[in-house]
Amino acid sequence: MCGIVGIIGNKPVASLLVDALKRLEYRGYDSAGVATLLKGKLDRRRAEGKLVNLEAELSGNPLDGNVGIGHTRWATHGAPTQNNAHPHFCEGVAVVHNGIIENFSEIREQLSARGAEFTTDTDTEVVAQLLASLLRSGKTPKEAMLATLKLIKGAYALAVLFDGEDGQIMGARNGPPLAVGFGDGEMFLGSDAIALSPFTDDITYLEDGDWAVIRKDGVEIFDGEGKRVERPRSKASTAYAQVDKGNHRHFMEKEIYEQPEVMSHTLAHYVDFASGKVRDLASEIDFSSVDGLKIAACGTAYYAGQIGKYWFERYARLPVEIDVASEFRYREMPLPGNQAALFVSQSGETADTLASLRYCKEHGLKIGSIVNVRESTIARESDVVFPTLAGPEIGVASTKALTCQLSAFAALAIAAGRARGTLIADEELNMVRALSEAPRIAGSVLNSIQPQLETLSRELSKYRDVLYLGRGTNFTLALEGALKLKEISYIHAEGYAAGELKHGPIALIDENMPVIVIAPYDRHYEKTISNMQEVAARGGRIIFVTDENGAAANDLETMATIALPNVDELVMPLIFTLPIQLIAYHTAVFMGTDVDQPRNLAKSVTVE
Ligand code: G6P
Repeated sequence: MCGIVGIIGNKPVASLLVDALKRLEYRGYDSAGVATLLKGKLDRRRAEGKLVNLEAELSGNPLDGNVGIGHTRWATHGAPTQNNAHPHFCEGVAVVHNGIIENFSEIREQLSARGAEFTTDTDTEVVAQLLASLLRSGKTPKEAMLATLKLIKGAYALAVLFDGEDGQIMGARNGPPLAVGFGDGEMFLGSDAIALSPFTDDITYLEDGDWAVIRKDGVEIFDGEGKRVERPRSKASTAYAQVDKGNHRHFMEKEIYEQPEVMSHTLAHYVDFASGKVRDLASEIDFSSVDGLKIAACGTAYYAGQIGKYWFERYARLPVEIDVASEFRYREMPLPGNQAALFVSQSGETADTLASLRYCKEHGLKIGSIVNVRESTIARESDVVFPTLAGPEIGVASTKALTCQLSAFAALAIAAGRARGTLIADEELNMVRALSEAPRIAGSVLNSIQPQLETLSRELSKYRDVLYLGRGTNFTLALEGALKLKEISYIHAEGYAAGELKHGPIALIDENMPVIVIAPYDRHYEKTISNMQEVAARGGRIIFVTDENGAAANDLETMATIALPNVDELVMPLIFTLPIQLIAYHTAVFMGTDVDQPRNLAKSVTVE
């Protein structure tokens, strides 16, 4: 996580750096800083907390200079104080860093033994200290950079300035992404294309092990041995530029309401509504011949994968094993070569998901990825990319990316069912019809349920704990609902399979623990109602999220019943996730939390 930016041009860069950092604030926001070079001298401004604090610092104490680097931080080593904020300085070297230097304590000990004095608690400072000590020993900046990169281990994206070197910024990448942007007489460096979108859409991504010397008129890229390499230039998607809140209070609210549109774009990519068929897309993965699928992802993307598993198994009779990526990568599971692997990620950069992908690749599996950022590392390392067309997602809590991931999964499961002969043409036609209606239904649900959910959320914000229950794909939505609520409202929430209630959580039920039961009128309805009865019998307060048929069939007393339209079972997760998102959103608004940038979290998690 952390966001990095660098600009070298013909005009003062400090405010441009801050503007670019604003577009990277989703990566971390606990402190920020910029450094510039003016007539060969380095200077910097840093501030604890969000970028507004850095802006205030800069307006009181401006920074001149036409070359500079900037950073917005998500702390890994060292508290989020001003002193630990980047850029880190050491004897005429300035460094900003995203990632973790894994051997930092070893290097720190060695340098300290030779008299180096460390002034921060960060792992990053060792990079500045190493560069400075190599310069002292007579190396040029380029030689010092190459030697430093050989010494440090771990995941990093770096940008570096050197005193006396107004004509260059150096960058390096091993793990977290780093993009070089080409302008007219100016050049840019950034953690992603969004950061650079107002400046340029002409981008080169450094590859792992690459480092670069960026000058006003171009870039030289080197590999880990110092050999010149060429990397392809590409046009970043223009959609990246649109990152404002529109008329909404928060990005999360905007993104929730964008779902009918982006869901329909994503579905249209996979489904030919005219013929009632899913398009032939999965050329690299032959679903008819694989005998199993592995899925790994993190956070909300993992829940998309879990629903994908239900669909692949039910509709394509294809066994799926899924794990959170941080477990998947270390489980040392056998990986038979006749299986395929799917990785799900909004950002396409999540470190654990990427490591899981590489593990499967080493074992010869065909790799598919469902990603929202097409230029991302996960996308680039996959044999086949299944894009989600959600557009940039800025709110830390994932919303529209999830419904787009589910749209892609639904289409892939149908494609797999057709390829494996487990779905006949009529079934495919009915499923495609159901999917085609999902965006319209989502729109009408979003337009109609808000007042009821606002009232309910005002009430929920008075509680300290909330339990979510569901069965089948609604069990996954229960997990997702609990994740959403806790991450943005800080209310403790747990999701449980309704059938597991009596194996533990029932002990917690009393009038202080609202229970959100997600139960449309499907094949699990009666069973879930029995569990709801168990809650009611113990004085639990029930919030019943169901459909019209489910509401009509229930006579238990509830704190609130949210009755959504009756929909086909395939599209239920796409629709039932909407009240789940809005409950979390409005509760957080009533709690007065920072909805788009909740404490301690970051959107793109590029460390383990
Ligand atoms: C973080 C974000 C979540 C996201 C997860 C996985 O935890 O806050 O919203 O679901 O990372 O991210 P990815 O980019 O791989 O989908």
